[in-house]
Amino acid sequence: MSGPEMNGGAAYELNLQWFPGHMTKAQRMIESNMKLVDAVCEVIDARIPYSSRNPDVAQLCAGKPRLIVFNRADQADPAVTALWRTHYSGSGVSVLETDAKSGKGVQGFSTLVRRHLQDKLEQYAAKGQGSRPLRLMVLGIPNVGKSTLINRIAGRKAAAASDRPGVTRGKQWISIGTGLELLDTPGILWPRFDSQEVGELLAITGAIKAEVLDRETLAANFLLRLAQVAPDAVEQRYKFRPDPTLGGYALLEQAGRKRGFLISGGEIDTERMAAVLLDEYRGGKLGRLTLELPEETT
Ligand code: G4P
Repeated sequence: MSGPEMNGGAAYELNLQWFPGHMTKAQRMIESNMKLVDAVCEVIDARIPYSSRNPDVAQLCAGKPRLIVFNRADQADPAVTALWRTHYSGSGVSVLETDAKSGKGVQGFSTLVRRHLQDKLEQYAAKGQGSRPLRLMVLGIPNVGKSTLINRIAGRKAAAASDRPGVTRGKQWISIGTGLELLDTPGILWPRFDSQEVGELLAITGAIKAEVLDRETLAANFLLRLAQVAPDAVEQRYKFRPDPTLGGYALLEQAGRKRGFLISGGEIDTERMAAVLLDEYRGGKLGRLTLELPEETT
């Protein structure tokens, strides 16, 4: 699904101002804890399996075995998730699909980790350390569901659901009862900034704050994207067949008109429609939509 064309010369730059100090701390936390863990569990957003991965993760993990968890699988198209799973499996990486919110898929976590780290378990056993637990760090970009996943795996309210990097209240390991321990604080990775399209996808899904982009432009581009790749979803939700040739703003107006979002003088309240569209997508009201396909990102 290639990026929609920009409308009406509304090109804009991503604002990267929020990035620095914040993330340097997070990186330090990850690096200093890496030596303590046997493996890393990278949580990604199944709706944007490319854009929600940090580009430096392999380097940060310093050769540790890795699992990729496709979280928010409940919000993604299952057939597309299957394609991505194949795409990311192999080369020493195991994958799992989860819906941390409901807990679906989470029960497979321990088994997968133990299978993935079979060699390590055998090494420990050979050294007479058979009872030594395997230790893991969960990491990922903001809002992919790291804390929710940790809580689900632990079966209790263990991790602070917070996006503040560097919030370390002394190191704590959460024992999950099957010879596994998780670092209680997830590692927060910075998102990738490869392109405007990636930035848009991160803002649409809520990984970065929409305020770093103009919300109407974001929503207009998103609606244009949906008109191209998921017109049925738009038609079902907003009761009109979107014609991509009209451009994103015209589509946003059409949706706003259908919703009756009018302001004085008969104008359409596109600002309001933009907020509604983004909220409804994030809330799953447009159905299970994955916004990236593997072949487009490689
Ligand atoms: P993070 O640590 O990676 O930053 O994410 P966190 O666990 O804080 O989760 C961010 C939001 O995503 C939470 O919603 C959480 O409930 C939701 N979430 C996490 N995993 C899943 C999932 O697999 N599926 C769905 N649909 N949602 C998920 P929130 O709006 O901040 O809180 P709440 O309204 O759910 O309480």
